[in-house]
Amino acid sequence: MFVLNRQNSIANVYLAEIRDVNIQGDGLRFRHNIRRLGFLLGYEMSKQFDFSKKSLTTPLTNTEVEVPDEDIVVITIMRAGLPFQEGFLQVFDHANSGFIGAWRKEGTKEVEIDLNYLAAPDLNNKTVILADPMLATGKSLVRATEALTNHGTPKSLHLASVIAAPEGVNYLNENLKVDFQLWTCALDEKLNNKSYIVPGLGDAGDLAYGTKL
Ligand code: URA
Repeated sequence: MFVLNRQNSIANVYLAEIRDVNIQGDGLRFRHNIRRLGFLLGYEMSKQFDFSKKSLTTPLTNTEVEVPDEDIVVITIMRAGLPFQEGFLQVFDHANSGFIGAWRKEGTKEVEIDLNYLAAPDLNNKTVILADPMLATGKSLVRATEALTNHGTPKSLHLASVIAAPEGVNYLNENLKVDFQLWTCALDEKLNNKSYIVPGLGDAGDLAYGTKL
């Protein structure tokens, strides 16, 4: 698992701002920070991609550069994931996108996930990034990954979050039947009894887009 804040960088400032109750209420800044974290995680991921030589001509000569070979699809779970996905799309200019509608069912003792919308391209041989900002129980990511199997077999699957809980990471490791790599900006302490991440940041969807009815 890659954890961005294991090494100190400017990302710590963006993470601090999305957590801080005195700052996170500014929705524009919250979305901006989530986008920037998506950008930075995408940059880190790109270091692992396959590269090949490409010829080009500068004003002075012909030369070769190394560029990534990957055919990337960035998929997110709405609505909280939208600014995170946008950050990845700012790094990967030619990536395609996918969208999943999923939410926690109300009134059930255990967290149960309903999935009612999926729009994604053919994923055969693609480098798939599934971006979900809060990896809490891990159930939405497992449900989303299972639903995506109908769209083909990716070359690689990268699960990306802003903040992850250890319980969610364990759930993915125990329940996902496909190979994946996990990327997060921070790995927090635990889940509380409402399955919110602690210390976490609260409800990422509400902070990005306002409270729902
Ligand atoms: N979703 C959120 O928005 N926050 C959490 O802490 C867990 C899931």
